[in-house]
Amino acid sequence: STPSLLILPGDGIGPEVMAEVRKVIDWFGDKRGLKFEVSEDLVGGASYDVHGTPLTDEAMEHAQSVDAVLLGAVGGPKYDVLDFSVKPERGLLRLRKEMDLYANLRPAQCFDALADFSSLKKDVVAGLDIMIIRELTSGVYFGEPRGIFQEGNERVGINTQRYTESEIARVARSAFELARKRGNKVCSMEKANVMESGVLWRQVVQEVHDAEYPDVELSHMYADAGAMQLTRWPKQFDVIVTDNLFGDLLSDLAAMLTGSLGMLPSASLGAPMANGRPKALYEPVHGSAPDIAGTGKANPIACILSFAMALRYSFDKGDEATRLEEAVNAVLADGLRTADLLGQDGAAPVSTAEMGDAVVA
Ligand code: NAI
Ligand code: MG
Repeated sequence: STPSLLILPGDGIGPEVMAEVRKVIDWFGDKRGLKFEVSEDLVGGASYDVHGTPLTDEAMEHAQSVDAVLLGAVGGPKYDVLDFSVKPERGLLRLRKEMDLYANLRPAQCFDALADFSSLKKDVVAGLDIMIIRELTSGVYFGEPRGIFQEGNERVGINTQRYTESEIARVARSAFELARKRGNKVCSMEKANVMESGVLWRQVVQEVHDAEYPDVELSHMYADAGAMQLTRWPKQFDVIVTDNLFGDLLSDLAAMLTGSLGMLPSASLGAPMANGRPKALYEPVHGSAPDIAGTGKANPIACILSFAMALRYSFDKGDEATRLEEAVNAVLADGLRTADLLGQDGAAPVSTAEMGDAVVA
């Protein structure tokens, strides 16, 4: 049956970049016979304006029923005064929580034409294509006990790193499944040398590997050494899987190996559905950029690449995803730049729509 995609454009530049993704989706339908059942709904401030809530129950059910969700961005100064319970961000948080999206995917991908843009040496990043998978729903950000307590005559701040076997196993499976659609290599990072949760993490990842994914190449690394290796020679990695805290740091580090916020896609995946596909929410890393909203300056590539991730990881169309990524690379190689990708050299930037049109062309 036709794969289904729910589009949630959201606020600020969200609808602007999503309009360009629409052109790309139409192109795949017209030129590649790749049809999607596309529906659209409101999220964030856009939903609050109409319904008084950042996500209706209907939109939530809608998201639960499709093969993949693609979201633009939410938020904006207009909504800063709202009560926390109806803030735009709550719409996104509800989606993540109710879909139980425990695996956060952050690629670090270097387009040749932007290799000079990196703070690292060109040969270190040229051709880079790695994926960090961060466990998103457990670990030290959630573990109990937590709090600031009085202990004798001073205060003590406490957080607890806690991982169950099943929490580790399910994110490990996400990593191995993904690796099979990529370079077939996983590196798991923890601190098994000093943390009990790290010891268990390493054991469980190895067990899941040996029982279910012996065909995938698996290695283990301490997370601090991993940070060094990521900046020294990132191309040694394919998929990296790690916990919530280390993943928070390592994914930000890896993303910035390659450049601008306007280029960064992401995905959050949950458990496999009845059809075998994981629950999935794809979105650019950037926010609603109120400072440039309405000016036609937004770079649509992060959102376009988020759709490429959907093609690869939700719709089993890795070849078409590569086709789209190559189109982005070709456009950049032609010298087209939105304002966020320009240095101080005075070249004229292209608009959001011009960039989208160029990718389609
Ligand atoms: P932001 O990511 O919206 O913007 C940061 C800076 O990067 C701005 O100068 C912006 O113009 C620029 N930028 C971002 N995306 C760009 C793009 N595609 N092309 C060109 N330039 C781009 O983060 P900020 O300013 O901290 O937050 C603005 C609003 O977005 C807030 O309401 C915040 O809560 C929300 N937000 C939403 C997120 C989401 O929907 N997932 C994530 C981050 C922030
Ligand atoms: Mg972070």
